[in-house]
Amino acid sequence: MGGFLEGKNIAVTGAGRGIGRAVALACASEGARVVVNDYGVSMAGEDPTSEVADAVVKEIKDLGGEALAVCDSVATMEGGNRIVQSAIDSWGSIDGVVCVAGILRERMLFNMTEEEWDPVIATHLKGTFTVFRAACAAMKDQKSGSLVAFTSGAFAASVAQANYAAAKGGIVSLMRSAAAGMNRYGVNANAIAPVARTRMSENVPMDLDEIGDPEDVAALAVYLLSDEARHITGQIYTQAGKKIALWNQPIEIREMRTSEDHWSTTEIAKRLNSEIGQEEMPILAQLEAYRKAAQAKEKASS
Ligand SMILES: NC(=O)c1ccc[n+]([C@@H]2O[C@H](COP(=O)([O-])OP(=O)(O)OC[C@H]3O[C@@H](n4cnc5c(N)ncnc54)[C@H](O)[C@@H]3O)[C@@H](O)[C@H]2O)c1
Repeated sequence: MGGFLEGKNIAVTGAGRGIGRAVALACASEGARVVVNDYGVSMAGEDPTSEVADAVVKEIKDLGGEALAVCDSVATMEGGNRIVQSAIDSWGSIDGVVCVAGILRERMLFNMTEEEWDPVIATHLKGTFTVFRAACAAMKDQKSGSLVAFTSGAFAASVAQANYAAAKGGIVSLMRSAAAGMNRYGVNANAIAPVARTRMSENVPMDLDEIGDPEDVAALAVYLLSDEARHITGQIYTQAGKKIALWNQPIEIREMRTSEDHWSTTEIAKRLNSEIGQEEMPILAQLEAYRKAAQAKEKASS
């Protein structure tokens, strides 16, 4: 207990289980009043129940903290508004929001259906928008606040989760836009790409060599919400067990210009490879290494 969030009002989505639950408990133990939002759904986003959020509110209250439950889906504007407004109505302000809620519907891109695409985008990307939107309106008037989004290393690319990767990439751009647009109002925005043991990570089809517990992720979320991190904005941090790492900013790294009035495909074909080329895509080498390791294992067992 460091009192990092003493007197603050924080809303956490997806706070009924896994990382969100750990963030909600850590916020409460650092002195915050906490809106615990969870729709209480299966990993695919089905069968909602209010019990999940209620249980975490009880946990916080049993530990002497203050919390209230909101069981709406983050994928609706009403849900996003209620999550933020309930903090303002009950406690007078919203000082931080942490958008953790998420679901998975894995499928190779060539087989993915609309029913697998839409809810994943709605929960992650729209679900971050609805809460950020409501929070920004209040924080603009307050002239202070912290926004924390949850992305994933998968935003860089994912073989069997194009829907999830696209949503997590969208969240990065949304977070950066919030950081740019809200900076003048004293509001910061950052994203965490976690790797932690939860029901969701149990599903990852490969060995994760660096993984921690939800509490490790929560420690970073608390720091980013605190006044000590007020100067940090527009960043993505990986939190994976003992590792915290910073991602780079997307910038142009090489350029070429034509001396003609317009580019022709012939000129591009002549110059692009030698002058600006392409950047390495690390996942392709990783996938090749997995494929070779699997082949070697198969050979050894036959
Ligand atoms: N666990 C990891 O290693 C890992 C890795 C990368 C990214 N993430 C991201 O971290 C976040 C938390 O993941 P987790 O592992 O704790 O998952 P989890 O499945 O344990 O918890 C997610 C929670 O979100 C809730 N939820 C789902 N849809 C909702 C909705 N529409 N409205 C409100 N709540 C909703 C669920 O009921 C659940 O309690 C997710 O955004 C996930 O994509 C996790």
